[in-house]
Formats: sequence, C-alpha cells, structure tokens
Amino acid sequence: MALMFPVVMGITNVTIVAIIWVGGHEISDGTVEIGALSAMISYVMQIMMSVMMASFLAMMAPRATVCAERIGEVLATETSVVRPAEPVGFAGDPATVEFRDAQFRYPGADSAVLDGMTFRVEPGTTTAIIGSTGSGKTTLIGLVPRLIDVTDGAVLVGGTDIRTLDPDALRAEIGLVPQRAYLFSGTVASNVRYGKPDATDDEVWEALRIAQADEFVRAMPQGLDTPIAQGGTTVSGGQRQRLAIARASSADPRSTCSTTRSRRSTWRPMRA
Ligand SMILES: Nc1ncnc2c1ncn2[C@@H]1O[C@H](COP(=O)(O)OP(=O)(O)OP(=O)(O)O)[C@@H](O)[C@H]1O
Ligand SMILES: [Mg+2]
Repeated sequence: MALMFPVVMGITNVTIVAIIWVGGHEISDGTVEIGALSAMISYVMQIMMSVMMASFLAMMAPRATVCAERIGEVLATETSVVRPAEPVGFAGDPATVEFRDAQFRYPGADSAVLDGMTFRVEPGTTTAIIGSTGSGKTTLIGLVPRLIDVTDGAVLVGGTDIRTLDPDALRAEIGLVPQRAYLFSGTVASNVRYGKPDATDDEVWEALRIAQADEFVRAMPQGLDTPIAQGGTTVSGGQRQRLAIARASSADPRSTCSTTRSRRSTWRPMRA
C-alpha cells in the first residue's frame, strides 16, 4: 500500500517523459506537429488518472473488508442481558431496591468487582455509595437498571428479581445520570426531552430547575432552542452534567416535574 502511490506516480511521469522524448525527435523530423504531441500528453494523463483511482480502490478494498468483518462481529454479538419469556410485574413499590448477596465479575476478570453485596434502599430515602476510585460504584449502579447482570445473588426492584421483570418497565422507573454525561446533537430542549418526548416547555423548565440548570439556560441567547453539538462539546463540563441531570429528572415519573416546588422536590438522581 505504501508503494502503490509512488509507483503509480513514477509510471505516469516516466510515460510523459517518454512521450516528450520520442515526440520531440519526431517534431524535429517534421513527422508530428506540436499540437498532436500535447493532445497525446493530455490523453495519457487522463488514462493515468483513472489508473491512479483504480489503485486507490484496490487500497481501500482490504481495509473495508476488515471493517465489515468487525461490524459483523458486533452485530452478531448475543446480548448477555436477556428479556424474560414471561415477564412479571413489581411485587411492591418500585422505588425499593434490594441487593441480596449480589456478586459481579467482569468477563475474563480474575476476581469479582462486587461480592456479597446485601443492602436495602427504602422509598423516599437518599443513599450515597462511597468508595475509592475503581471500587465498583459505577458497576453497582449498572446492576440496578440491568445494564449488566449479577453473576451470583440477586438484585430486586419493587420486591421482584429484576431478571424476571420486563426491562422496559424496569427502566421506566429509573432516572440515571451517568458518570460521563453525554449530550446528543440537537437543542437544550431536545436533550432534556429524551426522558419524556412529549414534555411541555413548562415541564422542561421544571426539570432544568431541579437540575439547577435553568439559570444558565435562561442566559443563553436562544434559551431552550440553543443548539448543542454532538457530545455536548459546546457547553462546559458542569453544564453538561446539569443538563444530563435535567434529562434524567424529566424521565423519572416520581420527580417533581409536574408539581410545584415542595419539600419532596429534593429528589436527586444518583450520579454513578
Ligand atoms: N468494562 C469493564 N471490563 C472489565 N473491568 C472493568 C470494566 N469496567 C470497570 N472495570 C473494573 O471494575 C472495577 C470497578 O470499576 P467501576 O467503574 O465500577 O469503579 P468506580 O467505583 O465507579 O470508580 P470511579 O470512582 O473511578 O468512578 C475497576 O477496577 C475497573 O478496572
Ligand atoms: Mg464510577
């Protein structure tokens, strides 16, 4: 591949030199006119350009084959989180989360990241999970919406093992702000509405207020319609986090989006 370009360029230039060499002698002999020689050169250039294009194609083909194989591998991957054949409903209040001797081991890892996790979170309470970096907090949070499955033990939401619940029903009860806040290209409002597509402007403002993002959004010249670049690169890191919090709180059926400010409005999504 490295040789392809110089070789094709070399052949092109040698051809032109040869044409000028032969043509020059024929012109001095009077058998060929100058116009015919320059026409010949431009035709040869056109042919050589096509050869060059063809050689680029030959270069791209093996790359594309490798890419296609990799994409195929991703598409063919079986998800480890499977939807139960006959999902059951919540046995109790879906705001109850319980870990029963839960264990999680990343595939291929020597030891489990989480082991023997047993605790219960009651509705209306705030729970903080504290630990040093790499201790498994994000992994623990990923177990609740069933982004990953426990390797042993069980996680119960609303008194039901989450592996027997419909994942959509489970996730409808959860507002999650990921550690790495990611915004999509669109506007402030379209990002907040990811949680609830039919949210009214008032509901969007309420979600922004809960996330303490209303102040800086109001200061933006286009307000809710301010464009956001892919990945949220046009807002600061903190603003990105707040918009992600607003998105999660607009999705959560129990957040105070549709009600007025009250003591219950201290609902905060977990940051994993
Ligand atoms: N996808 C993965 N595959 C294999 N190991 C992983 C993966 N993600 C995390 N780990 C490992 O699991 C452990 C826990 O990671 P986790 O992201 O849960 O930590 P954390 O407590 O959230 O850390 P931080 O405070 O830095 O966010 C780490 O030791 C990490 O190396
Ligand atoms: Mg983390």
